[in-house]
Amino acid sequence: MLANVNLEINLGGLVMKNPVTVASGTFGYGEDYDKYFDISRLGALTTKSLTLKPRAGNKPPRLVETPAGMLNAIGLQNVGLDEYLAKKLPFLREKGVPIIANIYGYSPEEYAELAARLENAGAADAIEANLSCPNVHDARIARGAAFVAQDADKVALYTRTIRSATRLPLFVKLTPNVMNICEPALAAEQAGANAISLINTLLGMAIDPETRQPRLANIVGGLSGPAIRPVALKMVWDAARVLKVPVIGMGGICEAADAIQFFLAGATAVAVGSMSFRQPDAAARVIDGIEAYMKRHNVENIAGLVKGMRI
Ligand SMILES: Cc1cc2nc3c(=O)[nH]c(=O)nc-3n(C[C@H](O)[C@H](O)[C@H](O)COP(=O)(O)O)c2cc1C
Repeated sequence: MLANVNLEINLGGLVMKNPVTVASGTFGYGEDYDKYFDISRLGALTTKSLTLKPRAGNKPPRLVETPAGMLNAIGLQNVGLDEYLAKKLPFLREKGVPIIANIYGYSPEEYAELAARLENAGAADAIEANLSCPNVHDARIARGAAFVAQDADKVALYTRTIRSATRLPLFVKLTPNVMNICEPALAAEQAGANAISLINTLLGMAIDPETRQPRLANIVGGLSGPAIRPVALKMVWDAARVLKVPVIGMGGICEAADAIQFFLAGATAVAVGSMSFRQPDAAARVIDGIEAYMKRHNVENIAGLVKGMRI
């Protein structure tokens, strides 16, 4: 049993005191969760996808419980860049937690503008480009971002454009709704991404048999929670074997034992997502549990777990 262990990581240039962040869209901008635990305990806080202008999101119902998970079709409801800078950022900076600012744009140039403005305002320590939101159906983006991450050439174009606009560590978040995750992952890496975030939600739907109506107003939504964990784990394993840059693993992480599986499969960091709705201090419990696991298993350095699956 070790007395001290080292949880610090370098995630594509972002130094984190532990390898745990939260998944974009499941933690807002942190204020509500700070009532349940000190959010500065997080290795980094990933904010809800930000767009240049505020978005009201989709019509309700936007959330449905499913076996071991949930479907959401929030549609990128967010306060927009200006309000984030004026109202949300000061609290996060006061807390001193590193910020991974997740961004969403309607074109490569919009992503680039968001990244540049966040960097210039000192409003992010890393950028996570959400190239994989399944819930936006504006006519403007009928060829929506779900499709960006489904097309390796587009992933390369978007990543290159954002890369040229910022010196911040750039993480690219991909969709699991593809045949081979390695193709968009390698495209992002070659275009300058410093880490790859895996996975966003899996497309799904549910119908009420009594009314024969879809349970989501949007009909289709994104499936998250423990139901998707095995899929996420396999995609992390696939991608980590071909990538040189680190992977941020997410998908159904509820407790430390789940996070450990992601490290063993090849993730350098993990994000706690939907579980924060059920248990607001889930991420803090995951941090504590990882530390306890390392002490129990004589793992001095968290890097010692990465790709540590025994075959
Ligand atoms: C309600 C909800 C909203 C989400 N919003 C975003 C978002 O704005 N941007 C994004 O990149 N991912 C978003 N996601 C996806 C999560 O960040 C995460 O990739 C996914 O839920 C898998 O992790 P989990 O199973 O632990 O929730 C959202 C997920 C949920 C459940």
